[in-house]
Parts: sequence; C-alpha cells; structure tokens
Amino acid sequence: MPSISQRSSGLGTENAFVVLAEVSELQRQGKDILSFCIGQPDFPTPENIQQAGIEAIKAGKHGYTPSAGIVEVREAICGYLNQTRGTSFEANDIVVGAGAKPFIMYSILATTDFGKNDEVIYPNPGFPIYESQIKANGAVPVPIQLREARGFSFDPNELNEKITDRTKLIILNSPQNPTGGIVPKKDLQVIVDILKEHPNIWIFSDEIYSQLCYEESFTSLASFPEILDRTIVCDGASKTWAMTGWRLGFAANRALAPVFTKWVTNTESCASQISQWAGVEAFSGDQSGATFMREKFLERRALIVGLLNDVPGVTCLSPGGGFYAWPNVTEACEMIGVKDSEEFRKRLLNETGVAVLADIHFGPRVPGDGQHVRFSYAASNENITAGISRMKDFIIRNKR
Ligand SMILES: Cc1ncc(COP(=O)(O)O)c(C=O)c1O
Repeated sequence: MPSISQRSSGLGTENAFVVLAEVSELQRQGKDILSFCIGQPDFPTPENIQQAGIEAIKAGKHGYTPSAGIVEVREAICGYLNQTRGTSFEANDIVVGAGAKPFIMYSILATTDFGKNDEVIYPNPGFPIYESQIKANGAVPVPIQLREARGFSFDPNELNEKITDRTKLIILNSPQNPTGGIVPKKDLQVIVDILKEHPNIWIFSDEIYSQLCYEESFTSLASFPEILDRTIVCDGASKTWAMTGWRLGFAANRALAPVFTKWVTNTESCASQISQWAGVEAFSGDQSGATFMREKFLERRALIVGLLNDVPGVTCLSPGGGFYAWPNVTEACEMIGVKDSEEFRKRLLNETGVAVLADIHFGPRVPGDGQHVRFSYAASNENITAGISRMKDFIIRNKR
C-alpha cells in the first residue's frame, strides 16, 4: 500500500463532526438525545432567498461563473459590507467561494511560504480549522490565549509580545467561536496601534458572526483606514442567513482579491452559481428573515445563560455575540468527581442524552482558566430548557 502524506495524516478536524457521529450512534440505538453541538442556525433559509435560488435554477443558471463570482453578488456584498462596516469596497475587491472556510486556507497560502518558519497568530480556544490549516500549509501556529477574565478576548499586550519578525498573518475572530466573546471596542484602537507598528503583517478578520453581535454594535477591523489595505475581511451567508449548506462565503481585500481568484480557479473553480444568485437576495434583499433569527438568538441567549447560572457548580458569562455559550464547569467537575471537561461531556451525553462539545475540541485549555464546554443555542427554547434541566439533575444526582 503506498503511504499517505504526513501533511494529510496530521490534518486536524472539527471535532463537532466526531461528536456528531457519537450522537448519531446513540440515536440509532433509540436514545433520546438533545444536541447542542452543531454550529448552524436551526431555521430554514428565509423564503425570499429560497425563492431566488429556485428562480436561478429555473432560469438555467447552471454553469460555471468567473472564479471571483458573478458581478451581481460581488456588488451586493459591497453594498452589505460598506453599509455594515463603513468601508468603500468595490466589486473587484471581493472574491466569493464555497463558504467562508476556504478563505482561511487561501489567506494562509497567500501570505506564508511552506516550511519557511512563517508564523501565524490565531485565537485559542478557536475555530479548529485555523491551527489545522496553518500546520498543513507548513507555517508555524502561534496561539494567543482568550481569557475568561477579559470576556473571552485577549490582552492586546499579549498580542504585541507574540509578534516576531517571522509573523506573516494574524487571525482574529469576533464575535468568536467557541466562546461567544467579542473584542471590545475599547481594545480595537489599541490593537490597531500595535498593528500599525508592524506594517508587514496581514490581518485575517473572521467576521462570520458579525450580524450576531449583541453587547456592542459590531466594529470591523476594516473600518480602521490605517490597516484597511492589509486586512482581509471574511464573512458569508452561512450564519446570518441560515445558509450553511448553500456554501457561500467571501473575502474582501483589494491587493489579495486577484490572488484569491487564482486559488479559487485552482481548487473550486467557482462557488455554486445557484447559491450566488440566492446570495444576491441574501446580501441585498429583504432582511426580515435575518432580523427574526437574530431576535430569536438574543432571546435564547438570555434563556440559556440564566438557566446555566442556576446549575450547581456552573457559571456562564453572557456571550457578546454568535450563538454559543461557554460555561465554566470546573466546580461541577469537582463536585461529581470527573477529571475534566471531556469526561464531563461524555458522561453528560451517555447518562442524560445532552450533547455538547468540550473545550479541548477547540485547542489546549487556557492555563488558569479551568474547564469549559460549548453549547450551541441554535436550538429551540423547549430543548434549551429541557437540556439544562437534565444537566442540573445530572450534577445533583452525582454530587459526592
Ligand atoms: C469562526 C468561523 N469561521 C468560519 C466558519 C465557516 O463558515 P462557512 O460555513 O461560511 O464556511 C465557521 C463555521 O462554523 C466559524 O465558526
């Protein structure tokens, strides 16, 4: 048998998919599972966007498109970006692809060279694909710790300390997966001032949860003219418009747009044409579907945070954005005698049918910050109430 490359064997994954396999197996055995694992809205794509997709199919929009995307969707994205970020992007600055995810890889490929010790700074805990893609593309991963005491943001001084003359790219994500933390406005100018001192570093701003920002109005790094030319804004249709399966995302950066376009030509060719036409409606059409979902997430955030804080041994900060809660379960683990959040997660799943992810699925635990699990509250009020009630009973029942 020929060997498999080290690069492929070492590839990371999204452990959400591993836990989902466990959940499916338990469901197959007839167990009643309440799942809080999956990071996608539990709503259908809004009707007007579905209709735009159907019309595209019926109108014969079935072929390849230019790799950067049809001009109509890139113009719609410009309108959306310029309105929500105060930027002045033009259609040629935008490249669309099969989700926001591919642009993580394209950005690493566009800014680092394989095996040259180029460093990429990224958040920990964080979306697991960052570290996986940094390593797979021969760069050096440099995590920056998100701390509970800072509302799951990082200390800008720590960012400054991590920067070396080998740093090529900094990945930031706000609102954040998995913690729901946001980089507070008061830190943004400090961060920009640090970045101004390092004009050779690119910034990847993962803004996929930008429209689900609750504590403060959303501020993009791209709204700071000092760093605009080297900031890659990445966003997409998945979370805001409940379109995860349509696979439509984009990156905006004037200098890198032609480079991203070449990477798309070399990989996906183009995003699905049908999804691009649906995207025109998502980014520029009637927004009542997105507004409705946002209101529901806000309501559920209050519900889940209130309920979690009523569970013995559990404390939960109110997440600034997204649809994730990241409760601290350190004391609960001690109370029931499990060694860590992963054992807690497994017992919670097997003994009560409540499926969550553990902190270690998003990188090594932050020293001194204890044990956490992630709940996605893209779930109904009934399921949230029932799930947390099961968790509470589980802890009370097993208390030593
Ligand atoms: C932080 C973050 N970035 C990017 C993505 C990818 O989204 P998409 O579906 O657009 O590829 C996700 C999806 O979970 C995410 O959480």
